[in-house]
Amino acid sequence: MYTPELLKSIQDELANLKDQGKYKIERELTSAQGPEVKIGDKTVLMFASNNYLGLGNHPELVAAAKAALDQYGYGLSSVRFICGTQDWHRQLEQKLAEFLGVEDVILYSTCFMANLGFFASLVNEPFGQNEYQDVIYSDELNHASIIDAFKLAKKERVEKRIYPHSDLAALEKMLADDATSNFRHKIIVSDGIFSMEGDMAKLPELVALAKKYSALLFVDDAHGVGVLGQHGAGTPEHLGAHGQIDVLSGTLGKALGGAVGGYLAGKKVIIDFLRQKSRTYMFSNSLPPMVVAASLKALEFLAKNSELTKKSAANTQYFRTQVKALGFKIPDGSHPIVPVMLGEADKAQAMSKRLLAEGLYVVGLWFPVVPEGTARLRFQVSAAHSQEQLDAALAILEKVGKEMKVIN
Ligand SMILES: Cc1ncc(COP(=O)(O)O)c(C=O)c1O
Repeated sequence: MYTPELLKSIQDELANLKDQGKYKIERELTSAQGPEVKIGDKTVLMFASNNYLGLGNHPELVAAAKAALDQYGYGLSSVRFICGTQDWHRQLEQKLAEFLGVEDVILYSTCFMANLGFFASLVNEPFGQNEYQDVIYSDELNHASIIDAFKLAKKERVEKRIYPHSDLAALEKMLADDATSNFRHKIIVSDGIFSMEGDMAKLPELVALAKKYSALLFVDDAHGVGVLGQHGAGTPEHLGAHGQIDVLSGTLGKALGGAVGGYLAGKKVIIDFLRQKSRTYMFSNSLPPMVVAASLKALEFLAKNSELTKKSAANTQYFRTQVKALGFKIPDGSHPIVPVMLGEADKAQAMSKRLLAEGLYVVGLWFPVVPEGTARLRFQVSAAHSQEQLDAALAILEKVGKEMKVIN
């Protein structure tokens, strides 16, 4: 039963969140996802979604999903190894493997689950050894799913070392200090694109360090896949490290269609091992056929034309240049995540509200999501934004920025 004490402690915590400005409000859209969305009867410009290529409501993906519903039904009511694998699941894994330049891929229900599934499977498995310890080196800005993944790895089996963001000298010092230690496996972990900053991991340098110190390199490319690289294969392709990352994780829930789904990609032997050992894979339902079919269509789309990735890059470059020219502070970069730095939380909160009132939906981020004093608006540009929509968003940003004295 709900005791009065339990209810009171929960109510107090909710009140705390509200007092500290950390209580999240969920705005209800009354339309599909797109460059413009509806909230109630009002149409607003959407600059807060991961719909980087505009595939979230693309007619060809919708048609593929509808056809899959007719052919293979709505759901499989099962995990993969019992009776939840259709031929399309394997096709998607093979197509993703080709696309990412790896031997094999394993699908998960989300990228969060993929990340949770990976570290525990590897680190907790003794492989016949009684005494062993692994070590993980992780960028301090890695995604929440990676931080939580470490919690599933048995404490006594793993040392965690957190290196300052993208500080590869600090990482190398840690690796060198451990060179004579008796660690069984060493694993370096980084996001490909850091979701609060929009900056890229230094992947070629990470590849070199992993080789030099015999460590496994794991990269979560949730925000890179589909968006970056000549063929949309992600941050490794963009930085000249295609096919060189030992294990990649990624999502089908952002650029590649935006519904749901995640994956791990790497050598066949590790993918086979995960099918046998990864608990978030083995004991969780398989992806619905319509998601699998639409994801296959998204890959077919990218293979046929590079127009979407080119448009995404062109829109991003235009938006970044114009925001800078207006006098806003943004970190250098080329990813469609564009953080407009404001400093104080109250400014970010007030400004995101004013922008929405003017018809521009953008998310404000503040402590503890980002470090104190670095509150920001996080814009996300899409290939689906038209020139008019980009200019309309910039005009609103200029008007509200001047009104709030963020720019002159
Ligand atoms: C870097 C990163 N990894 C993983 C995830 C989780 O992806 P999914 O929604 O597929 O669980 C996200 C989503 O926010 C992310 O930004």
